[in-house]
Amino acid sequence: MTAGTGAGTECSGAGASGARDAPVHGSPLRPAILEGERVLDAAGVPSARAEVEMLAAHLLGTERTGLVMFPRVEPFVLDSLGELVRRRAERVPLQHLTGTAILGGVTLAVGPGVFVPRPETEWLLERGLRWLRDRRDPVVVDLCTGSGALALALAHERPDARVFAVDNDRAALEWAHHNAALRRELGDTPIEVIAGDVTDPDLLAERAGSADLVVCNPPYVPEGTPVPPEVGEHDPHGAVFAGGDGLELVPHVVARAEGLLRPGGLLGVEHDETHGGAVAALMRRRPTLAGVETHPDLTGRPRFATAVLSGETDSAGTGSAQAVDELA
Ligand SMILES: C[S@@+](CC[C@H](N)C(=O)[O-])C[C@H]1O[C@@H](n2cnc3c(N)ncnc32)[C@H](O)[C@@H]1O
Repeated sequence: MTAGTGAGTECSGAGASGARDAPVHGSPLRPAILEGERVLDAAGVPSARAEVEMLAAHLLGTERTGLVMFPRVEPFVLDSLGELVRRRAERVPLQHLTGTAILGGVTLAVGPGVFVPRPETEWLLERGLRWLRDRRDPVVVDLCTGSGALALALAHERPDARVFAVDNDRAALEWAHHNAALRRELGDTPIEVIAGDVTDPDLLAERAGSADLVVCNPPYVPEGTPVPPEVGEHDPHGAVFAGGDGLELVPHVVARAEGLLRPGGLLGVEHDETHGGAVAALMRRRPTLAGVETHPDLTGRPRFATAVLSGETDSAGTGSAQAVDELA
C-alpha cells in the first residue's frame, strides 16, 4: 500500500466528521473490549486495554474517553473491532490499523512504507519551537522527514516559517507529499518536500547558510538490535537501522547542518539511548559548533543532542566531505 491508496484504514472509523450515533439497541461494547484486551495481552501487546479502547474509539469516531457514550453498538462494529484486534494481535502497528499518528498539533496519515512517528520525538519538536520563538520568518530543514511529521508539526505552529522536508526513500516521500497536501488543505503553510540524501554534500546547497533550525530524527538503531515485531516487520529497515553502531548517518547530518545553518542556528538530533554522549561528542569535535548538549527523554535516557552554529561555514557552504571523514 502506498500513500496514494493507504490513507484509509483497514477498517474505517467514523472519521473526522464526528462520532456515530450511539444505538439504543445493539450489543454491549464492554464484553468485546474485555475480550480484545485478553487477546492482545496473550499476543504480548503492551497496554492491551488502552489499545483495544483506541481501536474501538477509532471505529466509533470518538476519543477513548468518549466510549462511555457507547454502552451498546451495532453488531457490525463488534465484527470490525474483532478484525482489528486480530490484526493487532499479529503485531500490525496500531497506527497502521487506524491509519494515523499524531505529532504535536498534526495528525499524519501513516501506513506500510513509512516510519510511524513516535511520541518521544515531541521533545525535538518542542525544543525547535522554543528555539524559533523569537525568530520571524524562520527557515527550517527537517532531514530524514519520513511522513513529514516534524516538518509539518513545525509548519503548523509557525505559519511564517519556510520549511524544507528531506528524505531519500520513495515510499516515505509519497507519504510526506500526501501529508503535506492534507495539511495545506487544512490551511497550514505549505512545506517543500525534497527527494535528497543526507550523505550528499550538495544537498540543498542553494539554501547554504540560511537555516535557523535543522532537526533530524535519523535511522539510529545499531544493526542486529532486537526490536518488537511492529518495528522489525513494519517500519522500513532503512528508517530504523544505521550500521553496526547506529551512527552511520550522524556525521553526515552534522556536516549538512553545518552547511545549512546560519550562524546562531540550532541543530537538534534524536539518537539511540545506547549512544549516550556519542552524538554530542561527534558534535563537539566540530570547531564551528558550540553549546553542545545531550538531553534525556521523559524516562531519563539520553536521547537528543543539540548544538549551535557559532562560526563561519566552509567555503562550499554545504559541510565538506572532509568534515564527514573527520567525524566518522
Ligand atoms: C527514524 S525515520 C524518522 C522519520 C520522521 N522524521 C519521524 O520522526 O517520524 C528516518 C527517516 O530517514 C530516512 N532516511 C534514511 N536514510 C536517509 C538518507 N541517507 N538520506 C535521507 N533520508 C534518509 C528514512 O527513509 C526514514 O524516513
